[in-house]
Amino acid sequence: MSTTLITNIGELTTNVATPGDPCGTLREAAVLLDGDRIAWVGRAESLDRENPVRRREHGRGLRSRRGTEFSPSEHTEITVVDAGGRAMIPGFVDSHTHVVFGGDRADEFEARMTGVPYAAGGIRRTVAATRAATDAELRERLAGFVDELHAQGTTTFEIKTGYGLTIADEERIARVAAEVTPEVTFLGAHVVPVEYVDDREAYIDLVTGPMLEACSPHSRWVDVFCERGAFTPDESRRILRAGIDAGLIPRVHGNQLGPGDGVRLAVEVGAASVDHCTYLSDDDVAALADSDTVATLLPGVEFSTRQPYPDARRLIDAGVTVALASDCNPGSSFTSSMPLMIALAVREMGMSPAEAVWAATAGGARALRREDVGVIAPGTRADLVLLNAPTRVHLAYRPGVPLIRSVYKDGVTL
Ligand code: NIG
Ligand code: FE
Repeated sequence: MSTTLITNIGELTTNVATPGDPCGTLREAAVLLDGDRIAWVGRAESLDRENPVRRREHGRGLRSRRGTEFSPSEHTEITVVDAGGRAMIPGFVDSHTHVVFGGDRADEFEARMTGVPYAAGGIRRTVAATRAATDAELRERLAGFVDELHAQGTTTFEIKTGYGLTIADEERIARVAAEVTPEVTFLGAHVVPVEYVDDREAYIDLVTGPMLEACSPHSRWVDVFCERGAFTPDESRRILRAGIDAGLIPRVHGNQLGPGDGVRLAVEVGAASVDHCTYLSDDDVAALADSDTVATLLPGVEFSTRQPYPDARRLIDAGVTVALASDCNPGSSFTSSMPLMIALAVREMGMSPAEAVWAATAGGARALRREDVGVIAPGTRADLVLLNAPTRVHLAYRPGVPLIRSVYKDGVTL
């Protein structure tokens, strides 16, 4: 087990809210990592007084003081890291990705940029490419995306199925995804595959029956694309209820391409999150504000499809909990960059930099119903990002610049 003291942190975003500061910002801070958990967080100047460790007179180790929670033995070697006055934030929590797939759709993106609209039907092209890929090819591609996510500061990520749409293909996507994350979502209801277009009922029977049975052992969540061109509200309700009966927790893709019932259905079934939320009525906003359902906004989609961005300000002002996620997928948002989501949310969606950073960390954790990530506090996971910047504002202020200096996942530098 390794023990690391990171000190001289110029600005630490803990997300342990204090009055007027949901980000729980500490200046001149230090964090102690013990194994895969945070052991202590505080002002660097209080290290000697309050902190469980102090520098040994000889050698590089630190040892515990009495009356504290953290008490390593006299011989515990502690690595001391000087953050050089830089900013540190919790690792990003990307609560919405689709990173197990074959092929790409760069041609569709290129056509969109000359005015062709996005259509959900493009999903079927990726389904064909994914079915044609071997398990080894999917795994190798996924490993590349995991490296990409980590390099950009994402330490927790969700992955959806939905590019297989046969029992065997959905099962292998869920299985391969579960090798890299506990947050796997069964999205057999992504679109109706070509072979079932004339018999939607039969496909829904498959999704709510044997496909769900094959995927649920690898999954924590059930999702449905409730949208014109995908699944109707009644079909979506049936699919989500079947998932809940199988022990999965619901989440919904809704109100992406136009107004619809996705948000209200999500609230009705007690979904952890409803994702996209681009086209919302006042009733949708009120229903969300009255619920525990998080509104997860995915600005990579609007960036890549030229649709209007969702109005985060309206949601936050109404009291809705907002998360930001990448929706990394080859059709509507082929980016895994949470810093880009933050920059877009600030520039285009009315969020302050603090709100956007909170939404990309603590907000994502809420959307995944996780209390051990997205927050830097004693007992939470030692998942941290040191920025090559003095404050978190730089994530929006310096868009496109690689500001991720180092990433700790479970207490280990990646
Ligand atoms: O979240 N909305 C549905 N699914 C994806 C798009 C998938 C695709 O176009 O391949 C999304 O945007
Ligand atoms: Fe999605």
